[in-house]
Amino acid sequence: MIDFHTHILPEIDDGSSSVTESVELLKMLRQQGVSKVVLTPHFYAYSSSAESFLKMRQESLGKLVKALGEESVDIDLYLGCEVLYFEELWRLENLDSYCIEGTRHILIEMPFSPWADSMIDGIEKIITKGYIPIIAHFERYLGYQGNKKKVEKLLSMGALLQINCEFLNRFLTRGKAAKLIRKGYISALGTDCHNIGERAPKYDIADAYLRKKLSSHRYERFQKRQRRILSGAEKVIID
Ligand SMILES: [Fe+2]
Repeated sequence: MIDFHTHILPEIDDGSSSVTESVELLKMLRQQGVSKVVLTPHFYAYSSSAESFLKMRQESLGKLVKALGEESVDIDLYLGCEVLYFEELWRLENLDSYCIEGTRHILIEMPFSPWADSMIDGIEKIITKGYIPIIAHFERYLGYQGNKKKVEKLLSMGALLQINCEFLNRFLTRGKAAKLIRKGYISALGTDCHNIGERAPKYDIADAYLRKKLSSHRYERFQKRQRRILSGAEKVIID
């Protein structure tokens, strides 16, 4: 199983605060049945330049890779990030650097507000450039007026939707989450884990619920869909 949304890279954002915590998070995910993890630290263009973010991400990855060389955690890692949407995002020259490495898929966090038409245009421009936006934890935007229609528009343009395990784990929303997966609206599942405390990964609970609620055919279709996103992706090399 694949976790598409994590803040496991150490000391780079509000996620893992140390290499030890990062390794612990990976062990937890492995125990929960996850075999592939996409590392998606926050990138906020308003607070750091693209250049300094990419440098920091590389340094953080270096620390994690070094620690994993001394541990045995049987899990494949992929480098990516979670980019907070901004008007000029589509203009970034090196958009490839923000994609899941080796793919054209880019995880985008949208503003927590009703979305302006210009935001949808901005996403469309990214698609026109040949990228495939994955809208991070899309369930969090539905409460804002007008966003539901805009999500439909994004889907029709070719954007994909990611949901957090939390959506499947909460009693009040789990039915809706499973229904959206059953209908084929969701392409990726992620824990959005930040630490080993309050925001620890709970992938296994979400997966158990899905297995219970979906037919084996539909469950497998969802897994296949997720694997397809990573086909061609480049694994982080751990010596
Ligand atoms: Fe996140």
